[in-house]
Amino acid sequence: MDIQGTTKAIKDVAYDALVVGVVRTKADQGNTSITLTGAARAVDRVLDGLISQLGTDGEFKGNLGEMTTIHTMGKLAARRVVIVGLGSQETVNTQSIRRASAIAARHLQHTGAHQIALAISGGETNISPALAAQAQVEGALLGLYNFRKYQHTNTTGNEQGITKILLPTGNEQELNEAIRRASALAEATNFARDLVNEPPNVLTPTELANRASTMAKQFGIACEILDRPQMQELGMGGLLGVAQGSAEPPKFIILRYRGAPNSSDKGMALVGKGITFDTGGISIKPASGMDEMKGDMGGAAAVIGAMQAIAALKPSINVTALVSSTENMPSGTAYRPGDILRIMNGKTIEIVNTDAEGRLVLADALSYAVREGLSPIIDVATLTGGIIIALGSTMTGIFCNDAHLSDEIVAAGQAAGEKFWPMPLDAEYAEQIKSDIADIKQTGGRTASAVTAAKILENFVGDAAWAHLDIAGTSYVDSKKPYQEKGATGVAVRTLAELALRAAK
Ligand code: BES
Ligand code: MN
Ligand code: ZN
Repeated sequence: MDIQGTTKAIKDVAYDALVVGVVRTKADQGNTSITLTGAARAVDRVLDGLISQLGTDGEFKGNLGEMTTIHTMGKLAARRVVIVGLGSQETVNTQSIRRASAIAARHLQHTGAHQIALAISGGETNISPALAAQAQVEGALLGLYNFRKYQHTNTTGNEQGITKILLPTGNEQELNEAIRRASALAEATNFARDLVNEPPNVLTPTELANRASTMAKQFGIACEILDRPQMQELGMGGLLGVAQGSAEPPKFIILRYRGAPNSSDKGMALVGKGITFDTGGISIKPASGMDEMKGDMGGAAAVIGAMQAIAALKPSINVTALVSSTENMPSGTAYRPGDILRIMNGKTIEIVNTDAEGRLVLADALSYAVREGLSPIIDVATLTGGIIIALGSTMTGIFCNDAHLSDEIVAAGQAAGEKFWPMPLDAEYAEQIKSDIADIKQTGGRTASAVTAAKILENFVGDAAWAHLDIAGTSYVDSKKPYQEKGATGVAVRTLAELALRAAK
C-alpha cells in the first residue's frame, strides 16, 4: 500500500474518492443536528452547502459508521466524496475515527476505488491531527484486510483493490511519523491475523516457528526455537504432556528484542498460548464449531505480531516473547485425565480434563520467564469459554497481580482502540483448584472458570508483576462486521506495542 501525506488543498486532491467526517450534535428540543469536521467544512463550501443540507433535512444524522456518497461532477478534483459519521460529539475518540475510516475504506474497496484520500478529523475534540491521521491509516489498513489466499475467485469485485491512500492537511513531518506508526501497527496486526486465519494443516507448531523466525530475520531481532530434547532438559512437563498425543513436534519459540542493550533491566516478557489446533484431546470437544479451534494460537500470534511492531518502531526497552506451541490431539500416546504433570518450576498438576491444555503449556512458558528474570510478564491466551460468557467479544478480560500494570494496560488499550476489563484473582478462588494428590488441580469446575484458570497461572509467575489477558472472546469474530471481515482480529498486538512504546518513555 502506498500511503502519503500532502499539504495540498482538499479541493485539488485528484483521487477516486475523498472521505470526510461528520459528528452528531444535540440541537434545541432534543433534536439532533450534525457538525462538519475540518475537511468536511471545506468540501461543503465548494459544494455550495450540500453536506449541511443533508443534515438539516435529517437525511444524515452523523451516527458512527453512517455513510453517504456525493458525486462531485467536476466541482472538486476528487470524483466522489464519502461522508462518514463519527457518532456523538461527546463520545468521539480515536477509535471512532479508526472505525469510520475502516468502514469507508471497505465500502470504497467494494465500489471499485483504487486511490482514496482520508480527511476525517476529530471535530471539536482534543484529538490532534497526528493522532487522527494515525487512527485513519490504522482503520483503513485493518478494514481492508482480507484472507483470500486459498480462493480462486475474487469476491470483492475490485481485482486491483485500493492501492493508494493520501492524507491531506497538517504538518508534513508529524504526518509522516503518524503514517509510519500506523503502518507498523496495522501490518503487525494483519500479520497476527494471517497466523490465526491459516488452516491448522498449514499452520502447525513447526510452521508457526518458521514464520516467527522469518519475521525475526526480516526485522533484525534474535530468534531461538527449542525442540523436544531441550524441553525435556528444561523439565517442561506441561508443554510435553499436551504435545505427547500429537504427530506434530512441539516448538518453544523465543524472540528477543534489545532496545536497551546497556540496561541491567532484563525487560518485559510477552508470553503466548500457541495451540495450533485444540481438539480437546482425550476429553474431546463436540464436532460443532471445532474448526474455530485453529485459532487457539491467537495469543501466540498476538505476541509474535507485537514483537514485529516493536522491532519496527524501536522503543528503548528490552522485550522477550515466549511461545509454547503444540497441537492438542487425542491418540494412543495422548495424556489422560488422572495423569500428574510436573511443570518447569517443579510444581505438579493433577489432570482432570485434557481440554484445559492452555494453562499447562503457559505454566512452562511463565516459569521460563521467571527463570530469565523478566518482569513484568504479560501472557495472552485464548484460555477459557468462561471469559466469553462473562465479557463476550467486546472486551478482553485482564487478570493482574499489580494495580499499576493493570492500569497501564487498560490505558494502552484505550489508545490502541482495544478494550480490557479487570477481573478478580481473589485468594478464595484458589479453594477450587486444591488437589488431593498433587500441588494443584488443573480445573476448578464450572463456576468462575476464567478466574480459576488465571489462579492456576498465578502459581508460575514467582514475584514478577504479571498480567494475564484472556482473549478467547475477542481474538476471533464469527460474523463479518462493517469494519472488518469474519475471522481473526489480531487483538492485543497494538495494545502490547503501545505499552512497550510508553514504557520506553
Ligand atoms: N481453547 C479453549 C478455550 C476457548 C473456547 C477458546 C472457545 C476460544 C473459544 C480452551 O483450551 C478450553 O477448552 N477451555 C475449557 C476448559 C475447561 C475444560 C476446564 C473451557 O473453558 O471450556
Ligand atoms: Mn482446550
Ligand atoms: Zn485451548
